[in-house]
Amino acid sequence: MYKKLILFLTNILKKLYHVSLYGKILGLIIMIAVFISFFTIIRVYYVFHKESNLQLKALSKTIAQELSYQSVSYIKDNNIMKLMRIIENVKYHNKDIRYIFIENNKGKVIASTFENGFPLKLLKINNHGFKKISIVKLKNLYDGVWDSSYPILRGKLGVVRVGVLTKYSKILVNSFIGSLIFTIILIMFISIIVFSAIIMFMTRPIVKLTKALHDVEHGDLTVELKEVYIVDEIGELTHAFNKMIKRLRDAEAIKLEKNNMMKEFTKKIINAHEEERKRISRQLHDQIGQILANIKIRLKLLEDSKEINNEIKNNIKVLRDNLSNDIELVHSMAKNLRPAIIDELGLFNAISYYLDDFVRLSGIKVKSDFIGQSSCCELQPEIEIVIYRIVQEALLNVVSHSKASFVRVKLECNKNGFSGIVEDNGIGFNYKAGNVENLGLYGMVERAELLDGRLDIKSEKGNGTTITFKINFN
Ligand SMILES: Nc1ncnc2c1ncn2[C@@H]1O[C@H](COP(=O)(O)OP(=O)(O)OP(=O)(O)O)[C@@H](O)[C@H]1O
Ligand SMILES: [Mg+2]
Repeated sequence: MYKKLILFLTNILKKLYHVSLYGKILGLIIMIAVFISFFTIIRVYYVFHKESNLQLKALSKTIAQELSYQSVSYIKDNNIMKLMRIIENVKYHNKDIRYIFIENNKGKVIASTFENGFPLKLLKINNHGFKKISIVKLKNLYDGVWDSSYPILRGKLGVVRVGVLTKYSKILVNSFIGSLIFTIILIMFISIIVFSAIIMFMTRPIVKLTKALHDVEHGDLTVELKEVYIVDEIGELTHAFNKMIKRLRDAEAIKLEKNNMMKEFTKKIINAHEEERKRISRQLHDQIGQILANIKIRLKLLEDSKEINNEIKNNIKVLRDNLSNDIELVHSMAKNLRPAIIDELGLFNAISYYLDDFVRLSGIKVKSDFIGQSSCCELQPEIEIVIYRIVQEALLNVVSHSKASFVRVKLECNKNGFSGIVEDNGIGFNYKAGNVENLGLYGMVERAELLDGRLDIKSEKGNGTTITFKINFN
């Protein structure tokens, strides 16, 4: 039971944590107001109730006393008519009096205000043999009665009994308390409206500050709070927030500038790299390739010459065959360095040729899936070369590190952008993003980001590697 109560209270407290500051302050004020009002009403009720009881008690006694003096001579004269008139008169002028009766010294009721028979049980209650003044409260009689018993001539002639009802006074107290409650509720209602407006005004900067902090958390540094002219903690908080956000904005601007410079720099390096590859590729193809081709022609001439013997001829033939392979190798190197085929046949075809070579040289199975070829014709050359290099590096890694038996290459181009997946079923590795030492992987990410794209590498030891990238067109 005790534990349940603690649990219940903790649950309520936990729920209160989530109530807004405005709600908490308003709730506190309402609680204090209800608490004070409740105890005020209880206290007022208690005091009024006690006071009215004392008054009724005194009234009952005073009337009984007065009647005991007045009735002496009438009892002596046995003037019952007069006695009746007096007690009826007194009852008539005081609505709180329920009954008056006079009992003679023999215990006989000689005058009473009861019209329809006298309730004999009254004689047994508050009966002290005419000897003493006694005032008792009879709670069960007529919803409560203050009954006074006052001896006449010290009891020699009997006793006067007066019963004063408490119910009218209770009704009066209750109606007073009712109107007090109504007034308090009205005042509370008006106060709540006024206080809620004041609290709202006071907490508004904090609400705005909280919202602004959430915006900052989500990366919006453009927020600025209107400075409040109240120079309290809230005003200072707003001022400090604005200063902080300005510094953050400045720092962000510097960071952005550095980032842009860095991107520009990387772009230049990559472009220079590509230019260099292009130059080497051209030289390989046009010069070295040409030189080797010339040597091959000359060797053929030498081989056909009649002046050399057969053994030398055979050697020249072997040399020429080797040279053919070397020429092919040089052409393939030139092609890999700068795939002119991209410009001639388009990106998908260039990658397709690359994949053919890949399968032939590595023996790894490839499943390729190219979607939206025609829409890619408009790709800018620098985007095409970046995509080509990403795929090329991913496949080189597959062949060099993965021990995979299967690779899936999926490329898709639509009007929004270009996306690709290179996925192998190899040994996988623990990838750590941003590791500059892994130049191949780092270069892939950088190249994608240079085009405002994104490249993700997911790999797990024993579970293969998946490279996904997306470049959006704006
Ligand atoms: N597909 C893959 N499967 C398994 N391991 C891989 C794969 N791709 C990359 N790795 C691991 O990540 C490392 C870093 O690759 P990264 O391409 O950056 O460098 P590299 O291939 O070793 O050298 P290079 O600079 O010539 O590309 C590799 O050495 C290899 O251990
Ligand atoms: Mg690599």
